[in-house]
Amino acid sequence: MQAAIGAGIDGIVAECGGQAMCATCHIYVESPWADKFPSISEEEDEMLDDTVSPRTEASRLSCQLVVSDDVDGLIVRLPEEQV
Ligand code: FES
Repeated sequence: MQAAIGAGIDGIVAECGGQAMCATCHIYVESPWADKFPSISEEEDEMLDDTVSPRTEASRLSCQLVVSDDVDGLIVRLPEEQV
């Protein structure tokens, strides 16, 4: 989320500033990178139920994902609607 905001990417609103309380940083993580991030927490799971665009198996809150060398080449898609 912070990388997207810093790069000025439209579609990542992040109203709550990364507190997992708004779901406006919803993204879809492409395979095989999805399996390289930690599992979805209960808090993130609850927020993903309230996204504007449909939740899929690829859905994550970008504010809960820490990028490392393990996800080099990461591809994510943005929802058509975010707010
Ligand atoms: S920035 Fe609000 S849930 Fe991620």
